Amino acid sequence: MANIYAVILAAGQGTRMKSKLYKVLHPVCGKPMVQHVVDNIHSLDVERIVTIVGHGAEMVKEQLGDKSEYALQAEQLGTAHAVQQAESALGNEEGTTLVICGDTPLIRPETMQALLAHHNEQNAKATILTAVAENPTGYGRIIRDEAGQVAQIVEQKDANDAQKLVTEINTGTYCFDNKALFETLKLVGNDNAQGEYYLPDVIEILQKQGEVVTAYVTPDFNETLGVNDRVALAEAETLMQARIQETHMRNGVTILAPHSTSISADAVIGRDTVLKPGVVIEGHTTIGEDCIIGPNSHITNSTIGNATAIKNSVVTDSTVGDETAVGPFAHLRPQSDLGNNVKIGNFVEVKKSVLQEGAKVSHLSYIGDAKVGKDVNIGCGSITVNYDGKNKFETVIEDDAFIGCNSNLVAPVTVGKGAFVAAGSTVTKDVPADALAIARARQENKLDYVNKLK
Ligand code: UD1
Ligand code: CA
Repeated sequence: MANIYAVILAAGQGTRMKSKLYKVLHPVCGKPMVQHVVDNIHSLDVERIVTIVGHGAEMVKEQLGDKSEYALQAEQLGTAHAVQQAESALGNEEGTTLVICGDTPLIRPETMQALLAHHNEQNAKATILTAVAENPTGYGRIIRDEAGQVAQIVEQKDANDAQKLVTEINTGTYCFDNKALFETLKLVGNDNAQGEYYLPDVIEILQKQGEVVTAYVTPDFNETLGVNDRVALAEAETLMQARIQETHMRNGVTILAPHSTSISADAVIGRDTVLKPGVVIEGHTTIGEDCIIGPNSHITNSTIGNATAIKNSVVTDSTVGDETAVGPFAHLRPQSDLGNNVKIGNFVEVKKSVLQEGAKVSHLSYIGDAKVGKDVNIGCGSITVNYDGKNKFETVIEDDAFIGCNSNLVAPVTVGKGAFVAAGSTVTKDVPADALAIARARQENKLDYVNKLK
């Protein structure tokens, strides 16, 4: 195949979204639409990608980084005008240029590949990716001549009644002979219902010039959904979610209740892991093999080892080892780092703390800014007192220490290796290794006192 270039249209505000966020940055399954498009194109063998930016240019560039080059469309005069902005970057290249909208996140790389192959086979100057829609409202319609050849594309707002009945739509993805594209763009006018320079007009111009213009009809309309408003955004989310889940299931992940499960586009999940109902996995999360997640767990940007169980819990920006149990009703806040065989039980909150292999915090505790050694046992209701209202301080609990129930460890403080803190203690001084610390009032029994009170 000839050299392939790609132009992504992403300069529009997206008025119909009624949003402060620029349209192409709205996430679908946790990933901005335009990022889906760029990632998909990256999986093809393309020489260069140019993204047309305008509204929110800086934010779009920040999102895509060096995965694309950029051309600015300062004023949004239409899709043809948008592509024209790539001329200084691509105008002199020889090859095939794929043009795709930043608001069609579901088009698969395989479909783009099929479009390119069709374009090559037909030796065409332009090939449109089309689909047949049950309800074509809003899309440009593909108008064919008696011989069945593509003659033009008519936008919804410019279509007459007969044209509106056509169900074959323009998906907004095309490939062009690069030189022919930039030559023809110069001839596109804006005499239409929206007063815009329409990219689809290139098709009619080339056709009238006697060039070969073809369409590749993709069988799956769902893949070509253009997201113009929040209703379509929800549809895209549902379709993409189903696709993500299918991929995980085919890779050996059990998902008990697909409709109540949400998995981000960037998540990685190992074989034989079971997702129970109500699981939400967000961001760049990696989960190992043989885990049981849920019911009702919410895991964000975290790494979970193998054979670990996370029940009814929230885990954010954290790392959890192998064969570890979290929950039910635990909260791992950012920078929690749990080793293997750790147990975090119900109503336990952990923040910015390391818990080494075999450590147990089974009930009702707060562990913040702490280093907890191997096989430490922290009794029910214990708290690392890490905050004096101004600053945070660290608690260190060395290997094999035992913290009795309902203890306060007032940081900065260290409990030495193998030490024992008696239940109910408020520890304000370091405890040496192997020592017993008792820091509570002594019990006094006043005999018969209750009778005196009566
Ligand atoms: C467009 C097509 C329509 C097709 C549909 C598929 C045109 C005129 N119409 O309509 O035939 O059926 O996509 O989804 O092309 N953009 C710019 N600069 C502009 C205008 C738009 O960068 O000046 C970008 C937008 O950010 C968007 C894309 O181009 O990502 C498409 O624009 P949009 O306004 O959504 O076009 P549609 O009305 O959906
Ligand atoms: Ca659109």
